[in-house]
Amino acid sequence: MLLRKEDFGNDFIWGVATAAYQVEGACDIHLKGKSIWDVFVKQRRKIFQNQNGDVACDFYNRYAKDISLMADLNIKNYRFSIAWSRIFHEGTGNINSAGIDFYNRVIDFCLELNITPWVTLYHWDLPFELQKEGGWVNRNIVNWFEEYVACCVKYFGDRVTTWMVLNEPMVFTGAGYFLGVHAPGKKGLNNFLAATHHAALCQARGGAIIKSLQPRSNVGTTFSCSHIEPYRAIDKHILAAKKVDALLNRLFIEPLLGLGYPVKDLKLLQRIEKFIKQDDEKNLAFNMDFIGVQNYTREVVSHNNFMPFIKAKIIKANKRKVETTLMNWEVYPESIYNILKKYSSYRNMPPLMVTENGAAFNDVMINGKVHDPKRTQYLKDNIAQILRAKQEGVDVRGYFVWTFLDNFEWAEGYYPRFGLVHVDFETQKRTVKSSGNWYASFLKNVTTEM
Ligand code: NOJ
Repeated sequence: MLLRKEDFGNDFIWGVATAAYQVEGACDIHLKGKSIWDVFVKQRRKIFQNQNGDVACDFYNRYAKDISLMADLNIKNYRFSIAWSRIFHEGTGNINSAGIDFYNRVIDFCLELNITPWVTLYHWDLPFELQKEGGWVNRNIVNWFEEYVACCVKYFGDRVTTWMVLNEPMVFTGAGYFLGVHAPGKKGLNNFLAATHHAALCQARGGAIIKSLQPRSNVGTTFSCSHIEPYRAIDKHILAAKKVDALLNRLFIEPLLGLGYPVKDLKLLQRIEKFIKQDDEKNLAFNMDFIGVQNYTREVVSHNNFMPFIKAKIIKANKRKVETTLMNWEVYPESIYNILKKYSSYRNMPPLMVTENGAAFNDVMINGKVHDPKRTQYLKDNIAQILRAKQEGVDVRGYFVWTFLDNFEWAEGYYPRFGLVHVDFETQKRTVKSSGNWYASFLKNVTTEM
């Protein structure tokens, strides 16, 4: 089989994605306020080898070279996030002009090189000052977020027209406010449900604010999603899989589409009601211009009596003896096809964009060259599955590789490398991997063998 960019049509968007905390570094200069990640990483034993994003890829100082490298690799769309705490030192109130200047430089440089900026407004780095007030658990987050979003549109909206409101709300509420394994390290069902409801309000409100200030904008928001399968095709596992699907794939998209929370399939969501106020239900809905889907793997789920609240358990990939990435995620390209089909089957679903997809593998450096054939194969297989969905009628309009540079992978630190470009974190030297060269040639319309 051959893979050709032209099969996707000329207007299909191709790009790469990063996030502020994972690449920028410069954690405390030019009046940047602390974010929950700046604080969380300093607690012992939260992050692999107690690593942190203080320096990361030093993108704050090296953005010009990095964006030039992107242009060299024929990349025409760059998805990055804005660090809220660079713009508002205290989360709200005084605007920090140094923060605005930095993103102005990044945006201007992208445009100079003919790269379209795709801006994510919230990629997990809440200002710590706001966490002191409860963060996502505090309903005031809706007002704080509104102020921040309006500020970004005001300062950057003359050049940025494509926005993503939130990045993977299920992950930052679940890992950050239920499991406590991501910042801010909070636990428990109440924290999780409050954070969930407020994030769901913010995703709709954020979209509405952008549209009202910039009617010609292209507004979306992104979701983590994984194809879910029952461990065996028997009732109890099928039911367990349905619950996990409601939690991982439906919790945020359905209220946005005006369908409310998937309470019927996930009873524990009845408890979210205590956070819902009059008029909230209609305020959860917003008509986005596109929906970002972010997919890496599938999940296999079994019934399990010991799991609190949900009585279902994800069976880790290493227990299933399947091919995995360094994240212990199964390599399963059909997942992205299944997810695109599933999401496109909702009535009134806006066009879809794959705003993240990629893989962490052990890359081998030989004589200064980085060979990562597994990543290239992963990308080809996933892109082929996207084409399959598109050819079957799914309205999918773009694809962003996660990620451009090896970077700080949250609780896993620097160990899982996802980049098309290798970063030596001692010297900050960049080396384009063989996957990066492959992507560049694919983008140049070179036909490749699968
Ligand atoms: C999802 C997140 O948006 C991103 O920050 C993360 O690094 C990748 N997936 C890989 O886990």
